[in-house]
Amino acid sequence: MECILFEKYPNLKKGIAWECLGNFPTPVRKLERLGKEINYRNIWIKDDGKSSEHYGGNKVRKLEFILPDALRRKKKTIMTYGGMGTNHGLATTIYGSRLGLKTILVLVDQPVTDHVQENLLLFRHYGAEICYARDRTGATLNSIRYFLTKPGVYYLPPGGSSPLGALGFVAAAFELKKQVDAGEIPEPKYIFVALGSKGTMAGLVVGCRLAGLNSTVIGVRVAYTWLANEEATADLANKAISLMRRCDKAVPAIEFIQKDIQVLHDFCGEGYGFPTAEGKEALELLKKTEDVKLDLTYTGKTFAALLDFVKAHKELNDAPIVFWHTYNSVDLTPIIKQDHDYRKLPKSFHKFFETNLISYIQ
Ligand SMILES: Cc1ncc(COP(=O)(O)O)c(C=O)c1O
Repeated sequence: MECILFEKYPNLKKGIAWECLGNFPTPVRKLERLGKEINYRNIWIKDDGKSSEHYGGNKVRKLEFILPDALRRKKKTIMTYGGMGTNHGLATTIYGSRLGLKTILVLVDQPVTDHVQENLLLFRHYGAEICYARDRTGATLNSIRYFLTKPGVYYLPPGGSSPLGALGFVAAAFELKKQVDAGEIPEPKYIFVALGSKGTMAGLVVGCRLAGLNSTVIGVRVAYTWLANEEATADLANKAISLMRRCDKAVPAIEFIQKDIQVLHDFCGEGYGFPTAEGKEALELLKKTEDVKLDLTYTGKTFAALLDFVKAHKELNDAPIVFWHTYNSVDLTPIIKQDHDYRKLPKSFHKFFETNLISYIQ
């Protein structure tokens, strides 16, 4: 199977490695029952939750570019950092090990929910080396330590949001365009997506422009503003374009500026990883009406923003809106039940199982 981006820009193949890791295209469908409930008849889901039977969500698309790049550079180990419940870290560990790469995760504090505990157990189960670094300074120091002591480490920025990782979502927009052309879904007026480390949104913004989709991508900020903001998203989008143009001059020299990037900032609540009441409500509504499972860190907040947008903009007239679902839908609880002894984790993580949790769902 060939990457959909290489169909349009064949010269990319010469400079950019790619390997299929998931099940694409991911399905699209209209959220009919939700539509009846909220009286808006044109909300669709692009279901990246189903991007793989091993572990779904948005990271698979990024890793299809990143992991082959690491292998091409003869790296044996990937090192990345993120919050203690990082889905990106879990995806990197799972797909890295499938391709023979070891993963080191440098982890910083985030509110300890049961989701965070589950991911910590899964990191160990799938063979990651985990290091507790507490905060950004700790993460930087530990990353330097690993670089100095472990030669051949491939450094991956948080969320897999390197320009190369963002290409996964440039390709994703081309995939959506094909589905639009085939009549499976109308051309969206708006696409709602979570904005964390930015790779997903930056890639979609570039991809929509290149693929000729006349859709506005709306990023719902779920992380701190120093990481997730308009300027940094435009910058990443421009770096993704430069990377493509270095390999294939057929890629147009487009440039994004801050005002091209639409971000909603009011749904993050107290901060990254802190559940919000609207996020919980949105999660419950989508579960009840469509049996789609959201999470509280990313997709619940994003869906809450979409619901609010529809309510606030009566003039939308049932224009097509896509919710880009980015959270894994593979149930890994059987694995967690089998392998749940937290004392097998490094000692610095035990306290996160021995103190009170922020309840994930009441
Ligand atoms: C479930 C989920 N949705 C959305 C995102 C945000 O994507 P990005 O980091 O590319 O902005 C993440 C990132 O970790 C995620 O895990």
